[in-house]
Amino acid sequence: MFLSIFVKLVSLFLSVFMTVAQPLGMIEGKMQGKITHAEENCRVSFAAISDIHLRGNFKFIFQGMLELGLQDMADARDKLDAVAFVGDITDHGYVDQWNVFTDALSKYDIADNKLIVVGNHDTWGPNREEFDNPEDGVQVTFSKYNKLIAGRDVSTMYYSEIINGCYFIALGSEEDHTDAYLSDTQLQWFAGEMAKAAETGLPIFVFMHQPINKTHGLPYNWELKKDDPDEEGGIGNESDAVVAILKQYDNVFYISGHIHAGYKKSDSVIGAEYGSVEYMENNNGNPITLINLPSYLYFDFIHGGHLANGCGWIVEVYDGEVLLRARNFATGTWIKLYDETVGLVG
Ligand SMILES: [Fe+2]
Repeated sequence: MFLSIFVKLVSLFLSVFMTVAQPLGMIEGKMQGKITHAEENCRVSFAAISDIHLRGNFKFIFQGMLELGLQDMADARDKLDAVAFVGDITDHGYVDQWNVFTDALSKYDIADNKLIVVGNHDTWGPNREEFDNPEDGVQVTFSKYNKLIAGRDVSTMYYSEIINGCYFIALGSEEDHTDAYLSDTQLQWFAGEMAKAAETGLPIFVFMHQPINKTHGLPYNWELKKDDPDEEGGIGNESDAVVAILKQYDNVFYISGHIHAGYKKSDSVIGAEYGSVEYMENNNGNPITLINLPSYLYFDFIHGGHLANGCGWIVEVYDGEVLLRARNFATGTWIKLYDETVGLVG
């Protein structure tokens, strides 16, 4: 408890500092240029950020930090095909917090497709226990802001989009816990979407706020407690069911947030052991790529990863490979140390 409050206080202080410092290039150097494709003939490119934790007060910090990144995306020389917000968009799922998100997005033309993925904090609104309450239930709020922000009609916490031929599948918890709950209905739907996605022969992108259990340093990385149970900090009870579906297919990318862990290479010897990008073997002996996003708002000074906030990934799909490019959107800076190239199978 004390650690949690301490971390939040220090993070907030640092976020105020970053809001002022980043436009002046004090943290990560001068801007290195606008977002452009790394290679020719990019099939699809998208940005992904997570854990923005917007609040309705102190807008100059929260909305200000977000707008630094949105400006960078909007200024892209090669326009992004999509931007994914991978949960904990709001700090508590309240309407005034969602309105900060809507207001910020309305000012920038970042991409034609916006993927809004629910995080545990987004399910903690004023009526968190009545998910289906038609006035202010979590489901109704999620649907309302999907429509307002992305023009998407969605009546479940999950949905999929096809962008330039590639499937983008957004999974989401159907309860208000820190871990997730995926109903059998959602899991069956997910299995069906994956089967359809695999027929394209193109990479498949799956978004879920919570990481797969025991990946990216979990369960230890969640609260740095050595005796935490295996499911702590991950999807929870349905993790194995999700993995069983993922493992049936090649060229799958699973993108999560939730841990607030800065970029880190798997082979790093400093701090907690994890990789922001990890690989899990599928049933064909090929890799599933697991990508964990840092918190956009909060600094990571407890996991030993890259410290700065404002960070996320740009993903670019080419024939035969997918590039994962780390970028600090708030400073307009590539962070090449953490880049990965993933070869595609088939
Ligand atoms: Fe979060």
